[in-house]
Amino acid sequence: MKYGYFDNEKREYVITNPRTPAPWVNYLGSPEYGSIISNNAGGYSFVRSGAVGRVLRYHFNADDTPGRYIYLHDDASGEYGCLTRFPDKCRHGTGYTIMTKELFGLHADISFYVPLNSQHEVWHVRLTNPDLRCRSISLIGFAEFTNHPNYEQDGVNLQYSQFITKTEFRRNRVCRIVHPNIKSSPDAANHLDADAFLGLSGAAVSSWCGDRQLFLGPWNGYDSPESVASGNLPNVANCGGNSCGALCTKFTLSPGETKDFSFLLGQKSDSEAASLLKEYDESRNPEAELAALRQVWHTKLSRLTVNTPDENFNQMINTWNPLNCFMTFIWSRAASFFYCGLRNGYGYRDTVQDIGGIIHLDTQAAEERLTFMLSAQAANGGGLPLVKYTHTPGHEDTPDDESYRQSTGHPAWRADDALWLFPTVNRYISESGNISYLSKIIPFADRGEATVYDHLSRAIEFSLAHPGSHSLPAGLWADWNDCLRLGEKGESSFVAMQLLLAINFMVTFAGTMGKTEDIVYYQQQANLLSQKIEDLLFENDRYIRGYTESGEIIGSASNPEASCWLNPQSWAVISGLASGDRANLILQTVYDNLNTPFGAALMMPPFKDYAFPGALSVGYNPGMKENSGIFCQTQGWLILAEALCGNGDRAWEYYLENCPSAYNDRAELRQMEPYVYGQFTENTISMHPGRSHVHWLTGTASTIMSAAVEGILGLRPDFEGLLLQPAIPSDWEHFEMRKYFRGSWLNISVENPKHVCSGFCKMEVNSEWYPSAYIPANKLTPETEITLWIS
Ligand code: GLC
Repeated sequence: MKYGYFDNEKREYVITNPRTPAPWVNYLGSPEYGSIISNNAGGYSFVRSGAVGRVLRYHFNADDTPGRYIYLHDDASGEYGCLTRFPDKCRHGTGYTIMTKELFGLHADISFYVPLNSQHEVWHVRLTNPDLRCRSISLIGFAEFTNHPNYEQDGVNLQYSQFITKTEFRRNRVCRIVHPNIKSSPDAANHLDADAFLGLSGAAVSSWCGDRQLFLGPWNGYDSPESVASGNLPNVANCGGNSCGALCTKFTLSPGETKDFSFLLGQKSDSEAASLLKEYDESRNPEAELAALRQVWHTKLSRLTVNTPDENFNQMINTWNPLNCFMTFIWSRAASFFYCGLRNGYGYRDTVQDIGGIIHLDTQAAEERLTFMLSAQAANGGGLPLVKYTHTPGHEDTPDDESYRQSTGHPAWRADDALWLFPTVNRYISESGNISYLSKIIPFADRGEATVYDHLSRAIEFSLAHPGSHSLPAGLWADWNDCLRLGEKGESSFVAMQLLLAINFMVTFAGTMGKTEDIVYYQQQANLLSQKIEDLLFENDRYIRGYTESGEIIGSASNPEASCWLNPQSWAVISGLASGDRANLILQTVYDNLNTPFGAALMMPPFKDYAFPGALSVGYNPGMKENSGIFCQTQGWLILAEALCGNGDRAWEYYLENCPSAYNDRAELRQMEPYVYGQFTENTISMHPGRSHVHWLTGTASTIMSAAVEGILGLRPDFEGLLLQPAIPSDWEHFEMRKYFRGSWLNISVENPKHVCSGFCKMEVNSEWYPSAYIPANKLTPETEITLWIS
C-alpha cells in the first residue's frame, strides 16, 4: 500500500493518506533547538538536549500524541476540527513540514519550521475562504508543555514535577515557568529553570488556557478538546496540574479572503519572547524565512546529484539519504521517536562513522566534528566509548577510572572505537585535499596532545598493546557488535580486519608525511597481521567471527547456531585482505546463507539453544536486532564489498533490498518512513518479515551513503585526485553525476553501451583523453567535463 509520493523537484515527501503504518516524521532545527514532527503533527521540541531541555511532551511508543495542534471552530455553525491531525497532505521537506487541509469549506496551509540560526519554532497558518459567504472563525493553537524540562522528571516524578510549575498569560502568549520562586536556580546550567512560551503573532488573542485538563476536558482527547468544541478557551492558568499553552483568536473571513497567523514556540525568558513576537508582528516574514531555510539545505545537497535510470536511487542519493546523514550527524542518538533523550553523550564509534556520511557535502562541519572526536581519544590510543556532552579535552577521565565507569555506565575499553578514525580521516583528507590535517595538533581526552598522525599511530598501538590469546587484537568489552562479548582475551575477526585496514591507511599517511621508517614498520605489521588472519580466521568458504576467551570458535560452519556471519566477509574485502576468487567465494557464502528479500542477515542461524555466555543477542527474538536481524548498517559494507569487487549487479541487488523508497508502494511491509533508513529489518524467520525499526538516527545512513557513493557510483577521491570506478547494474546504459570537488564542479557522464557492471574502456576530461579512470586534482577546472566509458 502507498501513503504518499516523492516530489523530487521540491525535495519533499508528500503524504496523502495520513493513516500511515507508523508516525512518519521529519526533523526541524539545529543543535540549538530541535523539533521532531510527524505527519499528524505529533512529536516534541527541545533546546539542545531531548533529555534535559524538553519543551514539549510526547507519549513515546503510544498513539503519536500530543503534538502541535491547530484547531478551527466555525462560530456560526459550531462545527470544529483539527487542521494538523489527519491533514489532507503533509509535505516533509528539508527542515520544514507543510500541511494542508480543507475543513468545513475553508482551506488551510500550515508551515512548521525553525528559522535558520534560531532557537524557536514557527507554525505559520494561512487560512483562505474560497466560499461565497463570509465566515466567522475561531483559530486555536495548542502545545502541551512539559512541567519540567528534564523529561524523566516530567514523565515519572509526578509527586514533584506537577508542583514546581505554573503558567501565565501575557497579552499575546502563554508562558510556562518552572520554579517561579527561585530567581537563580542552581540548576540553571541544565536549563532546569527555563521558561517556555507559545505566542501568537498576526492577530489579537481573544481567549487562552494554560491548564491542560481544562483545555482538553476529562474525556475528549486531542481530536476534540472540550474548550475547542465551545469555541472559547477558559482563560485559566495552570498551578499544581499540567501545563499547556493554548491561544484562541476570532475573526471573519470574507469570500476569497486570506489571513496569516504565526504561532511561535520556544524556551525563552519573557522579555525575549515578547520581543520575538514583536518582530514577527512588525517585520519578520515566514515565507522569506522558509525560503532561506530551503536555500541553505538545497545548496548543501546540490554538492552531489545523480541522474541514473533508477528513480529510487536518484531520490535517495539526491535528497533523503544525505538528509538522513545530516540529522544523524546533528542529533547523534539523542532524540527520535525511539531514542527518548536518555543518552548522556556521543557514542565514539557511532559519531566517527556518522561524520563519514556528510564529508562530501559539508567538509567544514566534518572537520570540526572529526577534530572534536580526536580530542576524545585518550593518550593510550583508545577512544572513550562515550564522549560526554560536557567533554573537556585534557581533563577527562577514562574507562581506567572508576569515576568514568560510574558516570557513563561504560565499564571498559572497547576494541573498535578508535579504529573508526582511519576511514573517516582518510575520507576527509581525500575529499578536502587538506593534507596538512595530518600535522594538526589536537589534545588527547585525558592528557597531552599530538598531531593527527600521532593520534592515529597511537590508535594502532592501542590495538597491538591489547592482544588476545592467539595474539590477534582482543575483543575487549565489545567490538562493533554491542551484543558480542568475546571476553577480555577473546578475539574478533572484525577488529582484526579493521586494524588491517587502519595499518594499510597508515602506510599511505606515512608516505604522505615522508616517514620512511614508519612505512616499513606498518608494512611489516600489515603482513604479519594478514598472515595471522589467514592462519587463524579463515575456514573453507568463510572467515569465522572470532574466538571466545576460552578458545571456543564463533562462526564456524560446524557451529549449530551463528555459523555464518556477514561482517567478517564484507570486511575481509573492505580491509584489502580478500580479493579475486577468495573475495567472490566468501561473498557467495553470504549470498547463499544470509540473503533475504529484505537484505542479508547479520548472522544465521540465530542464537537460541547454544548461545555462549557472551552472546548477548540471544536475548532478542530470532530474526531481530543482532540476533539474525537484517542489521541495516551492515548492508552498506556488503554493498561496498561487492562494488569493490566490481560486482555491480550483486551490489545493486543488495542496495534495492534495503532501499526505503523501493518500498513506497508496499509501505505496510516496512512500516517505517519510505524516505528514511532504520537500524534493522526483521528477517524472514521473524513473525513480521520486512518490518523495520528505529528510524532516522542510525549508522545505516552514513554507511549506505558511502557504499552508494564510493561503491556503486565509484567516486573514490584520494589525496592526489579522484578515481572513477563505478560498479553498477548492467542494465544501466548511461548515467550522470554532478559533484563538487575541491572548488570545482565535475559533470560526469558514464557510458555503458555493452552493459557490463564495471571496468574501464576510455575517459575524456575537458576534451583530453586519459589512460585510466584517475583524474589528478591539478587537472580540475571550475566546470570539469568528464565522460567515462566503462564498456
Ligand atoms: C547500535 C549501536 C552501535 C552498534 C550497533 C551494533 O546501532 O548504536 O554502536 O555498533 O548497534 O551492535
